[in-house]
Amino acid sequence: MGRKLLLAHENVPGIDRLDVYRAHGGYASVEKALKSMKPEDVVEEVKKSGLRGRGGAGFPTGLKWSFLAKPEGVPRYLVCNADESEPGTFKDRYLMEKIPHSLIEGMIVSSYALGSNTSYIYIRGEYFYVSRILEKAIQEAYEAGWLGKNILGTDYSLDLYVQVGAGAYICGEETALIESLEGKRGNPRIKPPFPAVAGLWGCPTVVNNVETIAAVAPIINMGGEEYAKIGIGKSTGTKLISASGHINKPGVYEIELGLPVEEFIYSDQYCGGIRNGKKLKAVVAGGSSVPILPADLILKTAKGEPRLMTYESLFDGGFQSGTMLGSGGFIVMDEDTSIVKNLWNFTRFYHHESCGQCSPCREGTGWMEKILHKFLEGTANLSDIDLLWDIQSKIEGKTICPLGDAAAWPVASAIRHFKQEFEEIAKSKKFKDVSHYERLHKPAMA
Ligand SMILES: Cc1cc2nc3c(=O)[nH]c(=O)nc-3n(C[C@H](O)[C@H](O)[C@H](O)COP(=O)(O)O)c2cc1C
Repeated sequence: MGRKLLLAHENVPGIDRLDVYRAHGGYASVEKALKSMKPEDVVEEVKKSGLRGRGGAGFPTGLKWSFLAKPEGVPRYLVCNADESEPGTFKDRYLMEKIPHSLIEGMIVSSYALGSNTSYIYIRGEYFYVSRILEKAIQEAYEAGWLGKNILGTDYSLDLYVQVGAGAYICGEETALIESLEGKRGNPRIKPPFPAVAGLWGCPTVVNNVETIAAVAPIINMGGEEYAKIGIGKSTGTKLISASGHINKPGVYEIELGLPVEEFIYSDQYCGGIRNGKKLKAVVAGGSSVPILPADLILKTAKGEPRLMTYESLFDGGFQSGTMLGSGGFIVMDEDTSIVKNLWNFTRFYHHESCGQCSPCREGTGWMEKILHKFLEGTANLSDIDLLWDIQSKIEGKTICPLGDAAAWPVASAIRHFKQEFEEIAKSKKFKDVSHYERLHKPAMA
């Protein structure tokens, strides 16, 4: 059985309540950190743990924390990124909804480590009901003295606020999130300066994902070195994976990093295999932005080694034959899936969510959507495949924030690995799954 650190008590009735959470060891890390550790000791443990940001990029958390500027007399902020809008990713929601105190506990210890006395949880608008769960838990924590002035009789005080967004994917990008938190339109900022130097209200700020922050509590409880023993190489600890698509058991799973991908897909402990006995066609392993891989490459690397659920193994082969762990949104597609239709759907999303600041992203995502639409209509030509390739290559790396990359990578990888599917449609002038297309386009009341 894989070890569980974040979801160990997911099935305990009432675990969303403070008393039940406490009875299962909750808030122990706050007691340990505030009573026996200096803030820099907490940072050191997180460094030793090898924890990497669970929001998508996998940047080492302890290192990020050590970049935080500490000018005299200037407040510092910790902001939790609970925007979770990447298609295929729903693990943060699960954690906040089921065990809200695990995030609050992580926020207290992390805020203490960073010297933040006012911290925020920025949550996507569509998770309004989850924000209510968090607010209730925060209130319980205040009443029990885990938040507010002089926590546990120490001289450390912390106020924690939940801010609900308005439903824009771009507000998950950390500088757009900060803009939105300041009450402005969520446009990404040009970097540098990075938030660690000038973030919220121009003050030094750390933005971390929900899962990253929640992982700090078990790290402090067990010690960074113990945590680092779980996993392989630079992929340490456990990871929440949102598994969806054509599998028997969709859901959120906590895995030990290093689990073979094949075991994750086929074992009954996790996805339970492909639905209706179908064959596996492709997987998007880390949320809609990461390159899609065909079955052979997701199960084995180009060198023929078993592919593992780690940052390194999934990236093995670079973008030619690898992908990314990303935010852990694991979307499984069976043999009947149209890669072109799926790609059109993703691209439509990115076009809709582009903030419009950078022309390559604003215009390019729209053009890609239009061209993919031609494939769905059966009016695309072979030259449209080259055009699509050309457009994505002109978006990647040419925008203020990585939303452009996120839109380009799925297109590039779909053409790289499934070109034949595009060619067949362009030659036959027929999109095979017309029923779905019509359903999407017929006016609802027709
Ligand atoms: C378009 C876009 C959307 C993003 N959405 C999220 C998100 O919903 N949640 C998240 O944690 N990080 C998201 N990120 C990454 C954040 O910018 C940032 O890297 C992350 O919150 C850092 O946390 P971590 O170090 O704990 O991973 C997004 C990035 C981009 C470019």
